[in-house]
Amino acid sequence: MALGRFLQGETRSDTPGVTIGPARAYELFSEFGFGGRRRRAFARLAALSGARPGDRVLDVGCGTGYLTRRMAERVGPGGAVTGIDPSPSVLAYARRKGRHAAGARCTYQEGTAEALDLPDAVADVVVSSLMLHHLPEELRPAALREMYRVLHPGGRLIVAEFRPPTSRFGRLLIHVLAGHAMEHSGVERLDGLIADAGFALQGCGDIRPWLRYLQAVRPVPRERPNP
Ligand SMILES: C[S@@+](CC[C@H](N)C(=O)[O-])C[C@H]1O[C@@H](n2cnc3c(N)ncnc32)[C@H](O)[C@@H]1O
Repeated sequence: MALGRFLQGETRSDTPGVTIGPARAYELFSEFGFGGRRRRAFARLAALSGARPGDRVLDVGCGTGYLTRRMAERVGPGGAVTGIDPSPSVLAYARRKGRHAAGARCTYQEGTAEALDLPDAVADVVVSSLMLHHLPEELRPAALREMYRVLHPGGRLIVAEFRPPTSRFGRLLIHVLAGHAMEHSGVERLDGLIADAGFALQGCGDIRPWLRYLQAVRPVPRERPNP
């Protein structure tokens, strides 16, 4: 049995997604997994999101709010960041870590990626890290369509997923630590899923040690010329 199973939260009736339970243990696991590069990796992700001072940002599947706080550092006092996750225990941890980071307002909301309880076009930027592989494959398109819906036209998306190692040792390590979902994160199919949700892909790349990111934009509809 993979060690990561000890991180799982309770089964929920509102989502088949695999939630995280013990927040502190997740933090330790994550710090260990990133081998001292976590802060740098997530600060880079936040920079690549294109968020600017004053932006409204959603972090879907925010967990303990690590990226949420990095996003707050980008948007500053005039901006606001909302983290969304179905797990009450990680949200409680994120709230304890502070409602303000770098002067930006951080709020947290219980909810699921596949049915965001938010109006259309409320966000300038949507970020999501290491969340999609927690959803069954058949639910991932719905989650990306929801991210599209809550972004205004011209709004930006960055999704980061686990990039499984190619070496035998690396694969074995991931198998022991994290198990099937991370070994088969589906990262290679992400570009197709993002495009199918209506986004225009803008770029992609890797962040050491384990992340692959994809950047996209919700296209602005072209104005029809007057007849
Ligand atoms: C590996 S953690 C990543 C957390 C955080 N984004 C990070 O990078 O540290 C995956 C998160 O997805 C959440 N999750 C599971 N099912 C979900 C769903 N249906 N909608 C949104 N988040 C979900 C889990 O509770 C967990 O906090």
